[in-house]
Amino acid sequence: MFNLILFGPPGSGKGTQSEKLIAKYHLRHLSTGDLLRSEISRKTPLGIEAKKLMDKGNLVPDEVVIGMINDAVDLNMESAGFLFDGFPRTAVQAEELDNLLARKHTCIDVMIALEVSEDELIKRLLKRGETSGRSDDTNEIVIRARIAEYHKKTATVADHYRKAQKVVLIKGEGTVDEIFARLTAEIDHLMKVDNC
Ligand code: AP5
Repeated sequence: MFNLILFGPPGSGKGTQSEKLIAKYHLRHLSTGDLLRSEISRKTPLGIEAKKLMDKGNLVPDEVVIGMINDAVDLNMESAGFLFDGFPRTAVQAEELDNLLARKHTCIDVMIALEVSEDELIKRLLKRGETSGRSDDTNEIVIRARIAEYHKKTATVADHYRKAQKVVLIKGEGTVDEIFARLTAEIDHLMKVDNC
């Protein structure tokens, strides 16, 4: 298996690049944001509670997203590997992910972190908010709260994988195709090495 975390702040292009990467490498895309939005659209009890936090730009509790990822990994163990998008977002989530993968005799091969300036993040998310219907994109205060939550709780997750020398930084500005080319150059190289 080849397991990749695509990391970066809100609006850094994780979802956009994930779509292209899973098509090229046949990985299973696991986005906790998409899983939560699916719960919201189905109006499940979990979705109703999660929406209250997401609308303020706050993270949902660790145990909720860890449970969702656990189930999704269990259901997709026949895949060529996983692309984690928006997960892990806290130190607890990172530890749980490592434990979960170790129980499956696999591990994270690499964390690729997209680097984008804050001005560009806000510009992209406000633009998407004009059409996406995502309530957390329409208000600049909420967008700034999401970015603040990233700096407060999520950015340090990279330290966890840096200790294992598994972090690669990629410039996340430019055209979607330019960024995709940077990502695939790294991944093609990493796939030739056994990192687990
Ligand atoms: P989530 O859905 O993960 O959202 P996010 O991290 O805020 O990320 P986005 O989807 O907004 O951005 P992205 O990096 O994927 O960029 P995208 O490709 O979409 O999380 C939402 C909420 O769910 C969180 O706030 C939290 O409450 C909760 N949650 C999720 N996971 C959680 C977890 N693990 N633990 C706890 N809570 C969790 O691009 C953004 C825009 O930019 C798009 O319009 C795109 O078209 C555009 N764009 C992309 N690339 C480019 C480019 N190169 N040039 C110009 N525009 C571009």
